[in-house]
Amino acid sequence: MSDAKLQSVLASLSQVARQLDALPSGRPAPDSNWIKLDTNENPFPLPKIIMQSAIAALERQYLYPEDDNISLREAAANAYGVSVDQVIAGNGSSELLGVIYRAFLAPGDSVAMMSPGFSFNRKLAMLQGAQFVEIEFDEDQSLPIEQLLFGPAKNAKFIILANPNNPTGTFVPVADIEGLVAKSDRLIVLDEAYVDFAPENGLRLINRYSNLLVLRTLSKSYATAGIRVGFGFGHPEIIGRLRNIQNVFNMNVVGHAVGISVLAHRAAYADNHRHIRHERRRVTLALSQLGFSVIPSHANFLLARVPTGQDGSWWQSAFARQKILVAVFPDKGLENYIRVSIGTKEQMDAFLCAAGRICRIVNMSICPY
Ligand SMILES: Cc1ncc(COP(=O)(O)O)c(C=O)c1O
Repeated sequence: MSDAKLQSVLASLSQVARQLDALPSGRPAPDSNWIKLDTNENPFPLPKIIMQSAIAALERQYLYPEDDNISLREAAANAYGVSVDQVIAGNGSSELLGVIYRAFLAPGDSVAMMSPGFSFNRKLAMLQGAQFVEIEFDEDQSLPIEQLLFGPAKNAKFIILANPNNPTGTFVPVADIEGLVAKSDRLIVLDEAYVDFAPENGLRLINRYSNLLVLRTLSKSYATAGIRVGFGFGHPEIIGRLRNIQNVFNMNVVGHAVGISVLAHRAAYADNHRHIRHERRRVTLALSQLGFSVIPSHANFLLARVPTGQDGSWWQSAFARQKILVAVFPDKGLENYIRVSIGTKEQMDAFLCAAGRICRIVNMSICPY
């Protein structure tokens, strides 16, 4: 394409798309020698019976997947004790976030998120031409209810609240969330991506409050991040409209089969969840002994303040030199933090050994290893 043609095509992009940078070609994908602890996946293979359902589904690859995800939505309704018209199914819960932003926001509107939060929301708001209002948790990590009701979030079309929160791993008691939902007449989107690792969940509240949408994913607690299955639960009048604007055939046959099978075999994950909780405690303690300050987590990851002297990006590079990926965040106040997913025991041992080695390299007197 000549430059003149390119300029003309770029000029006809929507205003929002024109403001975006073209993504660079990207990092090479890490091979299997790397330990990937940067995106909160669950490290275990699917239980055998669920794997078999995935393989069987591939034999129907020549057909489109079932329209409107009906069987999967029925399975979710049965598993979670709600009616099928209260359920929407998505290609991961991130697809559902996108549908919610498209449905509720027009250019100039505003949306609020608890901060720091899942940064994908910022991009979704930007794509709608909406203003993104970030509200900080109180110092004790509780909800600033007055601010959410009467402060800068007052005019937001909806409020996004992840519980447990990403990237902090902190958890707000469901009674506090109910307090907010009861007092507000705006939509509250409660993103429970990590709730299976937490003490309680808020799903039951959808039967009491029509202004609540609850999002779940099978990516984290059911080890299907690469298959993409998520759900939204809420009032049928809202859920039905969201389904109506969803992409046709948004999921695929493997996602349907695996989702239905996971929901039928949730008990098969008890050891998996026990392992994550156990390693979460062990790694929290070990990192603390190395001089990190770890925020108590209710999710399958830890947010840790690195020992003084270097920032989070420096530690990320130091881990990368040992073929370990951890996450860092550009957000103000998170410069000195890394986020690490809870993997297998072997992966976490390797991570802790690497952390100990890095401590020795920078000669941190605090390092006991
Ligand atoms: C808070 C939160 N919500 C939603 C998602 C999206 O999950 P998925 O699209 O895999 O269902 C993530 C993924 O990291 C997340 O951290």
